[in-house]
Amino acid sequence: MKQIVHPVVLFILIILAPVQSYSNPPPAYEGRRLYVSYCQLCHGTEGKGDGALAKAMDIHPANLTTTVRSRSDTILTKIITGKGRQTITGRDRHNLLSDAMPEWKDIFTEEQIKALIAYLRFLGSAKYELMGDPKVGFNLYQQYCQVCHGIEGDGDGVMTQLMGIMPMDHTNPNETNKLNNQELANSILDGKGRFMPAWRNILSQSDVDALISYIRLLSH
Ligand code: HEC
Ligand code: HEC
Repeated sequence: MKQIVHPVVLFILIILAPVQSYSNPPPAYEGRRLYVSYCQLCHGTEGKGDGALAKAMDIHPANLTTTVRSRSDTILTKIITGKGRQTITGRDRHNLLSDAMPEWKDIFTEEQIKALIAYLRFLGSAKYELMGDPKVGFNLYQQYCQVCHGIEGDGDGVMTQLMGIMPMDHTNPNETNKLNNQELANSILDGKGRFMPAWRNILSQSDVDALISYIRLLSH
């Protein structure tokens, strides 16, 4: 079949595509960054309540992978900030809350609280684990993938108009969750269809793992 765009032309298009930058990192990605600095000491890297400080505590840090599922954003905001914790009533009050969970009053902005909650939701519902460092993935994504998949990952990069292609929407969990980590890695390394390039000679295995982690956080 005849190619619509010659590979050399494609390469030049990629080089010429205007460089745009990201102003707001995706919430779950930003939330993970905050979580690693402020929460994982007690709640553990995967949120299971087994952080380095957990042993030293009389009251065990909550296993966030199970507890946050039933809590609304409003309740979680109250729990995290401590503002209005005492007003939590009814079913949500169950097992709440000793002073062992610090009150993060006025420490986070509203956006940061939303980001933290997005990451807690990720911990509570992720189908696949993170493999590599999402921070590395974020940078690689902006460098190599956003021209087609879009700065925000929703599949509307500049190349889509130039070439008339429809890349995967990486912000849509219904699309990304269809593939396990190995399948994602295979598509990135070997390409997919006519216009998803193979990156085997450009990216290392750890680059690919990092990209997969970033994509998992994006689709949340
Ligand atoms: C010093 C240790 C410590 C740190 C740091 C900490 N927590 Fe906690 N957290 C706890 C403990 C202990 C509990 C359980 C309290 C209880 O059962 O009374 C808890 C409970 C919670 C709960 C309630 C779970 C539920 O639904 O029942 C949430 C949500 C939570 N923490 C989120 C966070 C977030 C987000 C951060 C980081 C900004 C954080 N925690 C940092 C110790 C900690
Ligand atoms: C030249 C445009 C282009 C670039 C650059 C690009 N992609 Fe794609 N990508 C596509 C297209 C088009 C599809 C849809 C392919 C199909 O299903 O036929 C796709 C699909 C995918 C899929 C889904 C594959 C599957 O099995 O369904 C993943 C994952 C993906 N891309 C990751 C990436 C990553 C990571 C990068 C950067 C390292 C990247 N892409 C760069 C165009 C691109």
